[in-house]
Amino acid sequence: MLDQTALRTELANHYDLAPSPELAAAHPEIYAKMARVVSPPDWAMFAPYVVAINQLKKERNAVILAHNYMTPEIYHGIADVVGDSLQLAIEATKVEADVIVQCGVHFMAETSKILNPSKTVLIPDMEAGCSLAESITAEGIAEMRAQYPGAPVVTYVNTTAEVKAASDICCTSSNAAQIVAAQDSDTVIMTPDKYLAQNIAREVPQKRIVWWDGSCIVHERFTAHDLNAFRAHNPDTRIIAHPECPPDVVDAADFSGSTSGIIAYVERERPAQAMLVTECSMASNISDNLPDVDFVGPCNMCPYMKKITLEKVLWSLHSMQGAVEVDPAIADKARRSVQRMIDLSQQLAR
Ligand code: 13P
Ligand code: SF4
Repeated sequence: MLDQTALRTELANHYDLAPSPELAAAHPEIYAKMARVVSPPDWAMFAPYVVAINQLKKERNAVILAHNYMTPEIYHGIADVVGDSLQLAIEATKVEADVIVQCGVHFMAETSKILNPSKTVLIPDMEAGCSLAESITAEGIAEMRAQYPGAPVVTYVNTTAEVKAASDICCTSSNAAQIVAAQDSDTVIMTPDKYLAQNIAREVPQKRIVWWDGSCIVHERFTAHDLNAFRAHNPDTRIIAHPECPPDVVDAADFSGSTSGIIAYVERERPAQAMLVTECSMASNISDNLPDVDFVGPCNMCPYMKKITLEKVLWSLHSMQGAVEVDPAIADKARRSVQRMIDLSQQLAR
């Protein structure tokens, strides 16, 4: 990828990206989805990118799959599909367009490529990683298998294709409890998120769950002490935590769920005040749709998710650089683990 300065110069040769109150005013329907969290001058700055990207999507026959942690201008301005990891994986299988631009982190783009290998899958920044994906390799899976012979390996989708290929089945935060409960073994190995595993162990007490020592650098920073202190002064605030948080943080919350589970909970419950114990963009993205909910309290930024910007999305669609490739032999094995998860969670949802 070009460095920032070269990328800007190159883009400026092809697009007029100067802030434009005129373009901003021409798209009130897009701005209405983020007006509570994006100021008019910022929208005037984003609008030229949003318009250029949406035009280029048509020319390239591309769709944008965006995770719930993308910033509002990406989430509302250019995404065709938004969702949590499971939803995005399922949507990737259905894409008919030639190109998928994954606005999320690398393992998500890899999952899309694995599930729909004939498509060109672009990630706007190859360095959009994930601390969980970096915490384990296929050798780590082999170590766990040696330590717990015969136990199935349930691996979080936040992993590389090699790790998925070495596992028996994948899970996401929205289906982990059902996937673990459905395993035909008393002992189940969960990798790589120790906190997700510890939270699931409490939901599925009939299984002995053993885990790898990985964690999410965003969710491990929340503390039960801070949440309880906040609650002491704000007793009516609904506290909602992602299951990548440590178990005592989940205990201090009123509800825990995947990113889409969190959105569904707030939409259903409509609390006057809500604290989303997760990545900062979550509250921003749903804020305009829930004007009666006041989002309060701390949030943590995912530095990997935040590598994806409008500028880099425009560059990837313009240059068609940043295609994710997965070795076909690895992809076949990884697909089996991801597809098993999709099939089982759809079967259990019926
Ligand atoms: P979800 O599947 O809940 O969207 O989580 C993905 C993720 O990376 C959360 O940190
Ligand atoms: Fe990975 Fe955590 Fe960022 Fe999600 S929030 S991508 S788990 S580092």
